[in-house]
Amino acid sequence: MSEQPLDRYAVIGNPVGHSKSPTIHAAFAEQTVQAMTYEALLAPLDGFKDVVSSFFQNGGKGLNITVPFKLEAWQMAERRTERAELAGAVNTLWRSDEGCLWGDTTDGVGMVTDITSNHGITITGKRVLILGAGGAVRGVLQPLLEQNPDRVVIANRTLSKAETLADLFRSFGTIEASSFETLLGEFDLVINGTSASLQGDLPPIPEGVISRDSRVYDMMYSAEKTAFMQWAESQGVALAVDGLGMLVEQAAESFAIWRGVRPETGPVIRQVRAAMVAA
Ligand code: ATR
Repeated sequence: MSEQPLDRYAVIGNPVGHSKSPTIHAAFAEQTVQAMTYEALLAPLDGFKDVVSSFFQNGGKGLNITVPFKLEAWQMAERRTERAELAGAVNTLWRSDEGCLWGDTTDGVGMVTDITSNHGITITGKRVLILGAGGAVRGVLQPLLEQNPDRVVIANRTLSKAETLADLFRSFGTIEASSFETLLGEFDLVINGTSASLQGDLPPIPEGVISRDSRVYDMMYSAEKTAFMQWAESQGVALAVDGLGMLVEQAAESFAIWRGVRPETGPVIRQVRAAMVAA
């Protein structure tokens, strides 16, 4: 009896060697007993579409897309989910039974699940401040607003980018744009979606924005506490967490789209955290 080949999945990026997605999906596959492989694929900066096309032509089942190709993946998808349409980015591709290339983005739902389920932070009815107005923030605004927060304020160095995003998502809830200097009032939840942490930098957050009751969430993650988390803790906030859980939750959402089963994320978050701290 000939053995069935395993279903093939991959993450595609440049660079991609650091990606934790192969480890995460291998853990999901083992846990849910799925006959599949998941590898990391490096695409040349000018060769994304060719790598994707040949992956699917050779029987590949699904792809995750990481930096810097999420916009190209959005353009390449023949059909997109509503949340991907608005996010302007695609991190999950698959072929439907009819052969249509579908694109979705699971980052936003991954972040909301991490905040609400893993960290027990309520968004509904709360005052939410989100820092930054790049692709990362655009990708999470719709699922965030669908939690019905009291309001969402987007603060960005370049005010016009925050205004553009606020206009784009206004139909989903109360959302406004602000510069850092003109931020007013206290917030229950502050989400850092800037890339400042990558350089160990802090966004210029004015005094009075957070209190001892505030929760803060950094979409970035690292083995040590991010500069943003350290700053928030020095202000005495109730809770400061990073975005490692978001990474695992967005992967779980992609996995569920492809395989029709939802893995348990808690053990995988703990596994990835332990490996990161030990490295
Ligand atoms: P990403 O895809 O990660 O969102 P991006 O689209 O380049 O990357 O956006 C980066 C975001 O981080 C922007 O909102 C940027 O602010 P500007 O739009 O004003 O450039 C923000 N950012 C980066 N470094 C920052 C810093 N040191 N302080 C505050 N904001 C910063």
